[in-house]
Amino acid sequence: MASLVAADAKQETAGGVSEGSIPVYSSLRPVHGHDAEELAAADARYEGLALEFLQAYGAPPVLFVRSPGRVNLIGEHIDYEGYSVLPMAIRQDTIVAVRKRPDDGSAPSLRIANVNSKKYPAVVFPADPSQEVDRGNHSWANYFVCGYKGVWEHLERLKASGKEDVEVPTPASLDVMVDGIVPTGAGLSSSAAIVCASAGAVMAAHGLNFSQTDMAELCCKCERHIGTQSGGMDQAISIMAKPGVALLIDFNPVRATDVALPEGGTFVIANSLTESNKAETAAVNYNMRVVECRLAAMVLGLRLGLPKQEVYAINTLGEIEDMLSAAAPGLGGEGPLPAVEAHLKPEPYVAEELEELLGEKLETIMKSSPTSLAVLAAAKHFALYKRAKHVFSEKERVYAFRDTAARAQSSSGASFSSDQVLEDLGQLMNESHASCSELYECSCKELEELVGVCRKNGAIGSRLTGAGWGGCTVSLVRDGHVAGFIESLKEDFYKSRVERGLIKEGDLESVVFASKPAGGAAIFRFDH
Ligand code: GLA
Repeated sequence: MASLVAADAKQETAGGVSEGSIPVYSSLRPVHGHDAEELAAADARYEGLALEFLQAYGAPPVLFVRSPGRVNLIGEHIDYEGYSVLPMAIRQDTIVAVRKRPDDGSAPSLRIANVNSKKYPAVVFPADPSQEVDRGNHSWANYFVCGYKGVWEHLERLKASGKEDVEVPTPASLDVMVDGIVPTGAGLSSSAAIVCASAGAVMAAHGLNFSQTDMAELCCKCERHIGTQSGGMDQAISIMAKPGVALLIDFNPVRATDVALPEGGTFVIANSLTESNKAETAAVNYNMRVVECRLAAMVLGLRLGLPKQEVYAINTLGEIEDMLSAAAPGLGGEGPLPAVEAHLKPEPYVAEELEELLGEKLETIMKSSPTSLAVLAAAKHFALYKRAKHVFSEKERVYAFRDTAARAQSSSGASFSSDQVLEDLGQLMNESHASCSELYECSCKELEELVGVCRKNGAIGSRLTGAGWGGCTVSLVRDGHVAGFIESLKEDFYKSRVERGLIKEGDLESVVFASKPAGGAAIFRFDH
């Protein structure tokens, strides 16, 4: 097979991309061409994937879709409450190679394989968009099925909204090979990377190309089939990311605004080596927080004097903030935090107490959400005050971070100090971490140790990133210190773990690394 780098690049230059849709390229250069080494590595990876595909299915793939992981710089656990977040994509991504299999008379099926077949064995599913994702069996290929379902669900929604010209293609048999290099269970959105790349591959294989915002929304919705009530941050950044900038992402509807990062600082990602599997621990960690926030919003709604039936329909703290400011415009300047102080008690609530306040069984209020019912079955108490305080303070830090970063762009002249901008950003990151750790209680021993080691070794700011309960930290480090900083983490955090056999010395490059903002999802069709 010819080198993929050398393939004709006419599509990206001749405007083969319609405005706002997932870009279609005929060369790796637009995504991986920043330096020769990266381009050569990407070329080898795509060649290897194409070869594996050929060996597995006896024919080459027709196209590839890649979608990256992300690191969230600030704004943790607030996307599902309707608030803006500020992530950037990382270069590690998942690639899905696909072809439509010619009809051989048998029932259409999806053959899904992975280049790492030992860890991720091949699976066959029916080509049936209405199939359920088997939540009881946490198979890696379930993420593909999420993306698969998402494409048809989106088409059905379009039709239901009255778009008459929407043609729903007949589900074809697909051959699929996946190559993912986003570390799993690390808080870097390996799940969004595979869901987005899968949905993209299914979409493109059926001759469709949705807008980036539609893709971000549909991928967010369909990943919920896995069982986590996640917000839309991971899918939005994976689809919409742009090289060189972080994005401020707003929701309902999803929108992205570039946030240029100041010169002189680099973000370094370090893995605590504690795996955090969002889907498997959802009932006690992630979904538990979603339910706590909903309960906090409901209690605040009651205090606001809303009738009970309206209170039961409240889902997020974002909704309650809107109601608070409408009911008491004076609150506008102070935000919703005074209401939390006034109306929620700092101690955790037990279910019976909340049921008495709300005048209804919690199971009845949440009966339409099986994943919430699983939370209620496992939960002993609900820390409403702490969770609401985190959400309402964290959303302010996101805007403060954006505004601080903007200072570096707009300022010129003697009064401007880029070092002060970095210090201020670092301070916001540290405050975010404290809030995640103390109020949202989504940190863990290893993350606390790692954040401490990062700060001791010169990080201007350091925090857990992603859902937490394990996974990675992100630290802001002065450019000139990056290499020394990484070496000191190897010495102070990883050395003892290498000795204990938790990680191999040779694998350290993939657990602690500097990252520049990378680009988002892309479709590659190579001409041979
Ligand atoms: C996970 C979810 C996101 C977001 C983060 C926490 O990554 O998928 O939607 O809620 O956790 O900020």
